Amino acid sequence: MSKKAKLSALILVGLFLVMLVALPISNFFLARDLLPVTDGIAEFKPVSLILQNKCADCHSPDMTVYPLYTKLPIASQLIAKDREEAQQNMLFNRERLSGKQPFSKLDLARIQNVVENNEMPPVQYKLMHWNAGLTKADKETIIEWLQAEAAQSKSSQ
Ligand code: HEC
Repeated sequence: MSKKAKLSALILVGLFLVMLVALPISNFFLARDLLPVTDGIAEFKPVSLILQNKCADCHSPDMTVYPLYTKLPIASQLIAKDREEAQQNMLFNRERLSGKQPFSKLDLARIQNVVENNEMPPVQYKLMHWNAGLTKADKETIIEWLQAEAAQSKSSQ
């Protein structure tokens, strides 16, 4: 390799490394409008905020906060595919996030499953959104809500 080729390769690698850090950091500056939680049991309120902050980008039809790199060729396809698949599998729409529309028992069980097994948010999302992973406290909040929903549905039978 000539000196010039080596230098170009080095610059390319450098640019790539800068992007690798700069793109996730750019996500910290995105603003998100939060939906007020008006209905549902008390335990749902903090859970809705977790879902809105950490899950809505993929699971909520018109609530995605698009990152700066949305329009980059590969990124745009990955994001579109994730959102489509996510919403086919589990919908966190406005009615549900505001507490107006209750979750079915089956959906509650599916949420419990992904939370307990650390399956959501997906790894590729967490790589780009450094504060999107569920913390221990988030998980406890979600499990408390699931237990409260289960107790509620038992007592109303
Ligand atoms: C990057 C996009 C993305 C984010 C963010 C995301 N999900 Fe998902 N989710 C998906 C995709 C894609 C699927 C369908 C494929 C799969 O199950 O892996 C899915 C599936 C699911 C399912 C259905 C699993 C099943 O098959 O029973 C649940 C429940 C779920 N997600 C909950 C969550 C929760 C809770 C969060 C936030 C903590 C979250 N997701 C964040 C992309 C996402």
